[in-house]
Amino acid sequence: MKWIEQFSLDNQVAVVTGAAGGLGRELVAILADAGAKLVIADTDEFKLDVLSREIDPSGEKVLQQKCDVTSKQDVLSLIDNAHKKFKTIDLLINCAGILGPDELLFDVSERDWDSVLNVNVKGSWLVATHIAQYMVTHKIEGRIINISSSLGFRSQLKRVPYATSKAAVEHLTRNLAMELVSHNIRVNCLAPGWMQTNMVNNLLEGPEGKKWREAIPMRRAAHPSELTGPLLLLASKASSYMTGAIVRVDGGYAYSGIELPE
Ligand SMILES: NC(=O)c1ccc[n+]([C@@H]2O[C@H](COP(=O)([O-])OP(=O)(O)OC[C@H]3O[C@@H](n4cnc5c(N)ncnc54)[C@H](O)[C@@H]3O)[C@@H](O)[C@H]2O)c1
Repeated sequence: MKWIEQFSLDNQVAVVTGAAGGLGRELVAILADAGAKLVIADTDEFKLDVLSREIDPSGEKVLQQKCDVTSKQDVLSLIDNAHKKFKTIDLLINCAGILGPDELLFDVSERDWDSVLNVNVKGSWLVATHIAQYMVTHKIEGRIINISSSLGFRSQLKRVPYATSKAAVEHLTRNLAMELVSHNIRVNCLAPGWMQTNMVNNLLEGPEGKKWREAIPMRRAAHPSELTGPLLLLASKASSYMTGAIVRVDGGYAYSGIELPE
């Protein structure tokens, strides 16, 4: 095998949750380019529909599935339908996530806390557990990639629930990696920083843009294409000796200085 062929996902089936979101769509496009068939899952059916037609208008290589990652019933029917269509699931990208409130500690409600932890942590655990169980039953040498954030490591004002949830996703990754290693299932985590979405671009060009740009050691947000290498590494045979790893793609943001309240 030529070294470059290790990165191929030909005939592999990938489930992506939160697939209709800003980052999810980018990850889906990269996986499709690498040859994967896709099960795209999200709560937003309209956006899923548009994405599905963009990836493969014939529908042969894509299955769209409405799925709330916090619902066991939804997760089981996602797996069931993926099996009916493709007969395998080789890869899971746990990308569904919510940012939660933009509030300092004393203004965060219990409801906000519960909803962020529920989607980001419970959702990642629930989907990973049931897909891992499916992989074990079908003797698949699968891969699971959780999506964290720079805030899984660093602190940031007004992000108590979100940052806590992403730190939990990183530790979930390490624990799943150890529980599943004897089943030949590898679990790793991709931790992006600022990505060039409309929201981020507006922030970086807005009144507080200079402050935010200076907080990023590379002084810019990432173009989504800059996730290609790290994603394909973790998704493919090229990372055959990696499990439990947290791969940061954030221009150094996780390790830079933090802002304190005035
Ligand atoms: N965009 C960034 O700059 C960035 C940076 C670091 C980490 N991340 C992480 O990447 C992931 C995706 O972020 P994004 O920027 O695409 O956000 P987004 O809001 O654009 O997309 C999130 C998607 O998840 C879906 N979703 C929300 N709750 C769900 C649920 N309960 N079940 C199923 N789907 C649900 C939404 O419908 C949406 O399509 C998140 O985990 C986020 O924390 C994003």
